Amino acid sequence: MTDDITPTRTALVTGASAGIGASFARHLAAEGFGLLLVARRAERLTALADELGQAHGVPVHVYAADLSDPAAPADVMAFAETHDLTIDVLINNAGMAASTSFSDATWPALAGELQLMVIAVTELTHRVIPGMKARRWGRIVNLSSLAAFSPPGSGLLYTGIKSYVLNMSQALDMELKPDGIHVTALCPGFTHSEFHDAMGTRDAADRLPSILWQQPDAVVREGWAAVNKGKPICVPGRVNKILSNAFRPVPYGAQYVLGRTFNPFA
Ligand SMILES: NC(=O)c1ccc[n+]([C@@H]2O[C@H](COP(=O)([O-])OP(=O)(O)OC[C@H]3O[C@@H](n4cnc5c(N)ncnc54)[C@H](OP(=O)(O)O)[C@@H]3O)[C@@H](O)[C@H]2O)c1
Repeated sequence: MTDDITPTRTALVTGASAGIGASFARHLAAEGFGLLLVARRAERLTALADELGQAHGVPVHVYAADLSDPAAPADVMAFAETHDLTIDVLINNAGMAASTSFSDATWPALAGELQLMVIAVTELTHRVIPGMKARRWGRIVNLSSLAAFSPPGSGLLYTGIKSYVLNMSQALDMELKPDGIHVTALCPGFTHSEFHDAMGTRDAADRLPSILWQQPDAVVREGWAAVNKGKPICVPGRVNKILSNAFRPVPYGAQYVLGRTFNPFA
């Protein structure tokens, strides 16, 4: 286990019913952390909790919640308090990408997207910090994306949302490092998960070259190592690192043209 931690430390993982979140849950349970798993699909969470409890002997709690509901972050933390769980690790992972353009989307759909990936991420972070500060130890991983480094996709909020997560994670890491709390923006590229099924872009995603893809476990290994080393940004995988650096020198005007003309999922 990392940093001499005790088995009573608990990790709250959002979006633990699939993909990167489920992989984080497996990884942290194997390191001896207790878990609080959150997502909408309760049966998936319960199956994972049974698996990890048996495999690693750690306490695993599940709480089914829709994080696009503004009440959800407070409800999750109330559940943690009722069960005496101190949240030492927060993996803000739950997310999705809408494929409907801004003007065609309904306001409730757009508001839900912002609530899930901006407000809930920020509110959960704000709610766990006092306890972490008091214990002078905390790890927060916020799932951003390689998209935060790339030109915005026409009509989509996703790149803007993930840019916010990248930016706020760095700001919080600067503020909280002296309190023993590390905050890392984890910025994966294309990762095998249910993400493109939920987005309705599975066929287009499957046509992308395999060199662009990573397995969730590889993303999690690198992200978890990064937060423990105190790195505020983690772009996992060699190809993703090259791509994130490649966009940096491109002038904004050229990025705009790129974003308007190139969309692998259109
Ligand atoms: N896969 C990629 O290529 C990729 C690349 C860069 C960044 N990311 C980011 O990585 C994170 C995880 O994505 P993934 O690839 O693992 O996708 P995934 O396999 O589709 O998993 C998404 C998770 O988020 C949960 N979730 C979605 N909407 C939710 C809601 N309203 N309330 C609560 N939970 C919700 C889902 O659970 P339920 O459906 O059970 O609620 C699921 O557990 C996301 O933030 C995504 O933006 C993914």
